[in-house]
Amino acid sequence: MKKENILSLKGLSKHFGGIKVIEDVTLEVTAGERVGLIGPNGAGKSTLFNMIAGDLEPSGGSISYFADMINRWPNYKRTEQGIVRTFQKNNLMLGLTVKENLLLVLQRIDKKHTQWWKTANKKNYPSLYEKVEKLLYEWGLQEYSQTKVQDLSYGVQRQIEIIMAIAGNPKLLLLDEPTAGMSQLETDQIISLINKLPSEVTIMMIEHDIEVLFGNMDRVIVLHAGTLIADGSPEEVRVNPDVKEIYMGKEEAANA
Ligand SMILES: Nc1ncnc2c1ncn2[C@@H]1O[C@H](COP(=O)(O)OP(=O)(O)OP(=O)(O)O)[C@@H](O)[C@H]1O
Ligand SMILES: [Mg+2]
Repeated sequence: MKKENILSLKGLSKHFGGIKVIEDVTLEVTAGERVGLIGPNGAGKSTLFNMIAGDLEPSGGSISYFADMINRWPNYKRTEQGIVRTFQKNNLMLGLTVKENLLLVLQRIDKKHTQWWKTANKKNYPSLYEKVEKLLYEWGLQEYSQTKVQDLSYGVQRQIEIIMAIAGNPKLLLLDEPTAGMSQLETDQIISLINKLPSEVTIMMIEHDIEVLFGNMDRVIVLHAGTLIADGSPEEVRVNPDVKEIYMGKEEAANA
Protein backbone atom coordinates (compact mmCIF):
# COMPACT_ATOMS: atom_id res chain seq x y z
CA MET A 1 0.00 0.00 0.00
CA LYS A 2 1.31 3.41 -0.90
CA LYS A 3 1.96 5.58 2.14
CA GLU A 4 0.25 8.95 2.30
CA ASN A 5 1.94 12.10 1.11
CA ILE A 6 2.99 14.44 3.87
CA LEU A 7 4.01 17.15 1.41
CA SER A 8 3.00 17.94 -2.16
CA LEU A 9 4.36 20.88 -4.08
CA LYS A 10 2.59 21.71 -7.34
CA GLY A 11 4.04 24.18 -9.83
CA LEU A 12 5.66 26.12 -7.01
CA SER A 13 7.52 29.29 -7.88
CA LYS A 14 9.14 32.26 -6.24
CA HIS A 15 10.11 35.39 -8.08
CA PHE A 16 11.97 38.33 -6.58
CA GLY A 17 11.23 41.19 -8.92
CA GLY A 18 12.10 39.77 -12.31
CA ILE A 19 14.35 37.04 -10.92
CA LYS A 20 12.92 33.54 -10.98
CA VAL A 21 14.49 31.93 -7.94
CA ILE A 22 12.16 28.92 -7.91
CA GLU A 23 10.33 27.98 -11.08
CA ASP A 24 7.55 25.41 -11.42
CA VAL A 25 8.72 22.88 -8.83
CA THR A 26 6.46 19.86 -8.44
CA LEU A 27 7.28 17.08 -6.01
CA GLU A 28 5.75 14.74 -3.47
CA VAL A 29 7.19 13.47 -0.23
CA THR A 30 5.80 10.39 1.48
CA ALA A 31 5.32 10.32 5.24
CA GLY A 32 8.47 8.97 6.90
CA GLU A 33 10.69 9.50 3.88
CA ARG A 34 14.23 10.89 4.20
CA VAL A 35 14.96 13.24 1.32
CA GLY A 36 18.23 14.99 0.55
CA LEU A 37 18.16 18.25 -1.37
CA ILE A 38 21.28 19.28 -3.24
CA GLY A 39 22.21 21.93 -5.79
CA PRO A 40 24.86 24.58 -6.39
CA ASN A 41 24.98 27.85 -4.44
CA GLY A 42 22.01 30.03 -5.25
CA ALA A 43 19.98 27.13 -6.72
CA GLY A 44 17.00 28.05 -4.54
CA LYS A 45 17.23 25.33 -1.87
CA SER A 46 16.78 27.60 1.15
CA THR A 47 14.07 29.55 -0.68
CA LEU A 48 12.16 26.30 -1.15
CA PHE A 49 12.42 25.58 2.59
CA ASN A 50 11.36 29.16 3.37
CA MET A 51 8.17 28.62 1.41
CA ILE A 52 7.41 25.22 2.97
CA ALA A 53 8.01 26.59 6.48
CA GLY A 54 5.94 29.71 5.79
CA ASP A 55 8.76 32.24 5.99
CA LEU A 56 8.17 33.30 2.39
CA GLU A 57 5.00 33.44 0.35
CA PRO A 58 5.09 31.61 -2.99
CA SER A 59 4.61 33.65 -6.17
CA GLY A 60 2.67 30.78 -7.71
CA GLY A 61 1.69 27.15 -7.26
CA SER A 62 0.58 25.28 -4.17
CA ILE A 63 1.95 23.62 -1.05
CA SER A 64 -0.10 20.82 0.48
CA TYR A 65 0.59 19.26 3.87
CA PHE A 66 -1.29 15.97 4.20
CA ALA A 67 -4.76 16.90 2.83
CA ASP A 68 -4.55 20.65 3.48
CA MET A 69 -3.48 23.37 1.08
CA ILE A 70 -1.31 25.45 3.38
CA ASN A 71 -0.18 28.40 1.18
CA ARG A 72 -1.95 30.81 3.50
CA TRP A 73 -1.12 29.18 6.81
CA PRO A 74 1.04 31.50 8.92
CA ASN A 75 4.36 30.15 9.98
CA TYR A 76 3.36 29.54 13.64
CA LYS A 77 0.43 27.37 12.54
CA ARG A 78 2.75 25.26 10.40
CA THR A 79 5.05 24.78 13.38
CA GLU A 80 2.12 23.83 15.59
CA GLN A 81 1.00 21.30 13.01
CA GLY A 82 4.44 19.71 12.82
CA ILE A 83 6.48 21.53 10.17
CA VAL A 84 9.75 22.55 11.83
CA ARG A 85 12.92 23.89 10.25
CA THR A 86 16.47 24.69 11.18
CA PHE A 87 18.34 27.54 9.55
CA GLN A 88 21.46 27.52 7.42
CA LYS A 89 23.04 29.88 9.94
CA ASN A 90 23.01 29.14 13.61
CA ASN A 91 19.79 30.24 15.28
CA LEU A 92 20.75 29.81 18.94
CA MET A 93 21.02 32.40 21.71
CA LEU A 94 24.78 32.36 22.03
CA GLY A 95 25.02 34.05 25.45
CA LEU A 96 22.59 31.60 27.09
CA THR A 97 23.29 28.09 28.28
CA VAL A 98 22.10 25.01 26.41
CA LYS A 99 19.50 24.43 29.11
CA GLU A 100 18.18 27.99 28.80
CA ASN A 101 17.95 27.73 25.02
CA LEU A 102 15.94 24.52 25.31
CA LEU A 103 13.72 26.00 28.02
CA LEU A 104 12.85 28.93 25.77
CA VAL A 105 11.83 26.57 22.97
CA LEU A 106 9.79 24.29 25.22
CA GLN A 107 7.98 27.11 26.98
CA ARG A 108 7.04 28.57 23.60
CA ILE A 109 5.56 25.21 22.60
CA ASP A 110 3.93 24.83 26.00
CA LYS A 111 2.36 28.31 25.78
CA LYS A 112 1.60 28.42 29.52
CA HIS A 113 4.57 30.66 30.17
CA THR A 114 4.08 33.74 28.04
CA GLN A 115 7.35 35.64 28.51
CA TRP A 116 9.18 33.97 25.66
CA TRP A 117 12.39 35.98 26.21
CA LYS A 118 12.79 34.97 29.84
CA THR A 119 13.29 31.42 31.07
CA ALA A 120 10.49 30.10 33.24
CA ASN A 121 11.01 29.73 36.96
CA LYS A 122 11.85 26.16 37.99
CA LYS A 123 9.56 26.23 41.02
CA ASN A 124 6.53 27.21 38.97
CA TYR A 125 7.29 25.12 35.90
CA PRO A 126 9.05 21.96 37.09
CA SER A 127 7.76 19.89 34.16
CA LEU A 128 9.54 22.15 31.65
CA TYR A 129 12.82 21.57 33.46
CA GLU A 130 12.20 17.82 33.53
CA LYS A 131 11.56 17.82 29.79
CA VAL A 132 14.83 19.65 29.12
CA GLU A 133 16.79 17.18 31.27
CA LYS A 134 15.10 14.27 29.53
CA LEU A 135 15.86 15.58 26.06
CA LEU A 136 19.52 16.23 26.86
CA TYR A 137 19.83 12.82 28.48
CA GLU A 138 18.13 11.01 25.61
CA TRP A 139 20.49 12.57 23.09
CA GLY A 140 23.62 12.17 25.21
CA LEU A 141 24.21 15.91 25.54
CA GLN A 142 23.55 16.41 29.26
CA GLU A 143 27.19 17.30 29.93
CA TYR A 144 26.60 20.57 28.07
CA SER A 145 23.47 21.57 29.98
CA GLN A 146 25.08 24.46 31.90
CA THR A 147 27.48 25.53 29.16
CA LYS A 148 26.91 28.76 27.30
CA VAL A 149 26.29 28.05 23.63
CA GLN A 150 29.12 30.40 22.60
CA ASP A 151 31.58 28.14 24.47
CA LEU A 152 30.57 24.99 22.57
CA SER A 153 32.20 23.69 19.41
CA TYR A 154 30.28 24.49 16.24
CA GLY A 155 29.47 20.79 15.78
CA VAL A 156 27.82 20.53 19.20
CA GLN A 157 25.96 23.81 18.61
CA ARG A 158 24.36 22.34 15.52
CA GLN A 159 23.44 19.16 17.39
CA ILE A 160 21.71 21.32 20.02
CA GLU A 161 19.84 23.10 17.24
CA ILE A 162 18.50 19.80 15.93
CA ILE A 163 17.44 18.76 19.44
CA MET A 164 15.59 22.08 19.74
CA ALA A 165 13.85 21.41 16.44
CA ILE A 166 12.69 17.96 17.53
CA ALA A 167 11.59 19.09 21.01
CA GLY A 168 8.10 19.79 19.67
CA ASN A 169 7.78 16.36 17.99
CA PRO A 170 7.73 17.54 14.38
CA LYS A 171 6.22 15.48 11.60
CA LEU A 172 8.19 17.21 8.85
CA LEU A 173 11.69 18.32 9.76
CA LEU A 174 13.53 20.64 7.36
CA LEU A 175 17.27 20.78 7.98
CA ASP A 176 19.15 23.49 6.09
CA GLU A 177 22.78 22.40 5.74
CA PRO A 178 23.16 20.96 9.23
CA THR A 179 26.69 19.79 8.41
CA ALA A 180 28.01 22.93 6.70
CA GLY A 181 31.49 23.94 7.80
CA MET A 182 32.03 20.80 9.86
CA SER A 183 34.89 18.39 10.20
CA GLN A 184 34.34 14.80 9.08
CA LEU A 185 33.90 13.71 12.70
CA GLU A 186 31.32 16.42 13.41
CA THR A 187 29.47 15.56 10.19
CA ASP A 188 29.37 11.90 11.24
CA GLN A 189 27.95 12.91 14.63
CA ILE A 190 25.18 14.99 13.05
CA ILE A 191 24.29 12.22 10.60
CA SER A 192 24.21 9.67 13.39
CA LEU A 193 21.88 11.94 15.41
CA ILE A 194 19.61 12.34 12.35
CA ASN A 195 19.56 8.60 11.81
CA LYS A 196 18.42 8.09 15.39
CA LEU A 197 15.33 10.28 14.97
CA PRO A 198 12.05 8.33 15.11
CA SER A 199 11.39 6.63 11.78
CA GLU A 200 7.97 8.27 11.41
CA VAL A 201 9.55 11.75 11.24
CA THR A 202 9.82 12.88 7.63
CA ILE A 203 13.11 14.60 6.97
CA MET A 204 14.21 16.90 4.18
CA MET A 205 17.84 17.88 4.42
CA ILE A 206 19.81 20.37 2.34
CA GLU A 207 23.38 19.25 1.86
CA HIS A 208 26.20 20.25 -0.44
CA ASP A 209 28.09 16.99 -0.40
CA ILE A 210 26.12 14.23 -2.11
CA GLU A 211 28.40 11.62 -0.51
CA VAL A 212 26.97 12.53 2.89
CA LEU A 213 23.51 11.55 1.65
CA PHE A 214 24.49 8.04 0.58
CA GLY A 215 23.22 5.35 2.89
CA ASN A 216 21.39 7.96 4.94
CA MET A 217 18.65 9.23 2.63
CA ASP A 218 16.02 7.34 0.63
CA ARG A 219 15.90 9.89 -2.09
CA VAL A 220 17.86 12.83 -3.46
CA ILE A 221 16.38 15.84 -5.23
CA VAL A 222 18.55 18.19 -7.24
CA LEU A 223 17.74 21.84 -7.78
CA HIS A 224 19.56 23.91 -10.35
CA ALA A 225 18.77 27.57 -11.05
CA GLY A 226 15.37 27.18 -9.40
CA THR A 227 14.20 24.09 -11.26
CA LEU A 228 14.14 20.47 -10.25
CA ILE A 229 16.51 18.58 -12.51
CA ALA A 230 16.75 15.15 -10.85
CA ASP A 231 14.82 13.10 -8.34
CA GLY A 232 15.77 9.55 -7.47
CA SER A 233 17.81 7.27 -5.25
CA PRO A 234 21.26 8.60 -4.30
CA GLU A 235 22.77 6.03 -6.69
CA GLU A 236 20.59 7.17 -9.58
CA VAL A 237 21.29 10.82 -8.95
CA ARG A 238 25.04 10.34 -8.72
CA VAL A 239 25.19 8.94 -12.26
CA ASN A 240 22.61 11.31 -13.73
CA PRO A 241 24.31 13.09 -16.69
CA ASP A 242 22.66 16.47 -15.96
CA VAL A 243 23.80 16.35 -12.36
CA LYS A 244 27.33 15.37 -13.36
CA GLU A 245 27.44 18.24 -15.80
CA ILE A 246 26.42 20.78 -13.15
CA TYR A 247 28.90 19.54 -10.63
CA MET A 248 31.83 18.76 -12.90
CA GLY A 249 31.31 20.81 -16.05
CA LYS A 250 30.33 19.41 -19.43
CA GLU A 251 33.63 17.99 -20.62
CA GLU A 252 34.63 16.33 -17.40
CA ALA A 253 31.15 14.82 -17.05
CA ALA A 254 31.41 13.30 -20.54
CA ASN A 255 34.74 11.70 -19.64
CA ALA A 256 33.76 10.58 -16.14
N1 LIG B 1 14.82 37.87 -0.20
C1 LIG B 1 15.45 37.79 -1.37
N2 LIG B 1 15.43 38.79 -2.27
C2 LIG B 1 16.06 38.70 -3.46
N3 LIG B 1 16.75 37.61 -3.86
C3 LIG B 1 16.80 36.58 -3.02
C4 LIG B 1 16.17 36.60 -1.73
N4 LIG B 1 16.39 35.41 -1.12
C5 LIG B 1 17.15 34.70 -1.97
N5 LIG B 1 17.39 35.40 -3.10
C6 LIG B 1 18.18 34.93 -4.26
O1 LIG B 1 17.63 33.70 -4.66
C7 LIG B 1 18.65 32.81 -5.10
C8 LIG B 1 18.51 31.50 -4.36
O2 LIG B 1 18.85 31.69 -3.01
P1 LIG B 1 18.81 30.52 -1.95
O3 LIG B 1 19.29 31.09 -0.68
O4 LIG B 1 17.47 29.87 -1.96
O5 LIG B 1 19.87 29.51 -2.57
P2 LIG B 1 20.51 28.19 -1.96
O6 LIG B 1 20.30 27.11 -2.96
O7 LIG B 1 20.00 27.96 -0.58
O8 LIG B 1 22.06 28.58 -1.94
P3 LIG B 1 23.22 28.22 -0.89
O9 LIG B 1 23.70 26.86 -1.29
O10 LIG B 1 24.25 29.27 -1.15
O11 LIG B 1 22.65 28.26 0.49
C9 LIG B 1 19.96 33.52 -4.88
O12 LIG B 1 20.38 34.08 -6.10
C10 LIG B 1 19.62 34.61 -3.89
O13 LIG B 1 20.44 35.72 -4.05
MG1 LIG C 1 20.85 27.95 1.25
